Amino acid sequence: MIYLDNAATSFPKPEKVYREILRCMREYCANPGRGSHRMSIESSRVVIQARESVASLFNISDPLQVCFTKNATEALNIAIKGVLKPGDHVITTCMEHNAVVRPLKTLERDAGIEISIVQGNEFGEINPENIKRAIRKNTRMVISTFSSNVNGIVMPIEEMGRIAGDHGIIFLVDASQGAGTFPIDVEKMHIDMLAAPGHKGLLGPQGTGFLYVARNVKPNPIMEGGTGSYSEYLYQPDIMPDLLESGTLNTPGITGLNSGIEFIESLGLENLKTYKGILTHYMHEELGKIKGIKLYSKDSAENNSGIVALNIENADCTEVSYILDKEYGIATRAGLHCAPLAHETLGTIRTGAVRLSVGCFNTADEVEYTVKALAEIANRFT
Ligand SMILES: Cc1ncc(COP(=O)(O)O)c(C=O)c1O
Repeated sequence: MIYLDNAATSFPKPEKVYREILRCMREYCANPGRGSHRMSIESSRVVIQARESVASLFNISDPLQVCFTKNATEALNIAIKGVLKPGDHVITTCMEHNAVVRPLKTLERDAGIEISIVQGNEFGEINPENIKRAIRKNTRMVISTFSSNVNGIVMPIEEMGRIAGDHGIIFLVDASQGAGTFPIDVEKMHIDMLAAPGHKGLLGPQGTGFLYVARNVKPNPIMEGGTGSYSEYLYQPDIMPDLLESGTLNTPGITGLNSGIEFIESLGLENLKTYKGILTHYMHEELGKIKGIKLYSKDSAENNSGIVALNIENADCTEVSYILDKEYGIATRAGLHCAPLAHETLGTIRTGAVRLSVGCFNTADEVEYTVKALAEIANRFT
């Protein structure tokens, strides 16, 4: 199988990820932070180590400000529902995933928050000045995806962060696409909250994700319970990460996530970005030459996190994806990708699109084969 669905979940994982998850399960997987025996201490140690790895990759000065979640959606829900209050105004972009849009729309409907959606150009690129223009007296939060999961476009995060910071507005970034490929620095980019999954570019297993919260932001937890700390206290402890981490953690997953990050660090983030950029550019350029193929992504290593979105004239995107799978053994995703606003922007809300997303284990040969397959399929329909 040629796996080009890395924007959904990366596959395969580095060998070390498999090995460490299995080792954890077999050798020491007791409850982290819930006991003083050596297995529990070892479980706590790997969780601490993973927190430090996350902090180091994103230039987070205090690892304790990182809480682990089961995915990016949970992290985003904590950030959005834990902070926004009735009467607050939020600015977000036309390229957001439903993991941002749905909690916001629910709060708009049920809790009286106001939302401004800043529009972009035909690729969904945002002019940061339009974020500035949307600011109101009651603007509490700016939320942006780091990169679109539909066409890979990368947002001007640093400029947005500066604008939010200058106005004392909380800046929340959804790094689901881009984390593990692009350098993300919470200090330099003025990011107050950073949500990311562990199972995509960070190369960890499913069931992992995290939320970073700056010290000056104190979200209300959306869930309370056991933390292994302050057990005599009948309310949720208000120290991080316990405030946002109730219940037993996914220790095997978290140690796998740590191994994924260690793998990224060993190869070098810049090298990974360059490699994925080369594959994406090659795919984009070659597909652009094929009659009947319409592309919705930008061909730029700086402005694309590794996604080529396309349609074939006269062909349903789901049929194209089906043929790629069944006849050529190529895994892609078709449809609206949980991001209807992005499809409104790209003009594909009625058709959807086929998404090809590269990972660090794809090869140039695989891309070449995929281009040939799409040329043959396009030929059938045009
Ligand atoms: C931009 C974006 N945000 C949020 C999510 C949700 O991630 P998860 O499935 O880890 O909750 C995704 C997943 O595809 C995404 O691409």
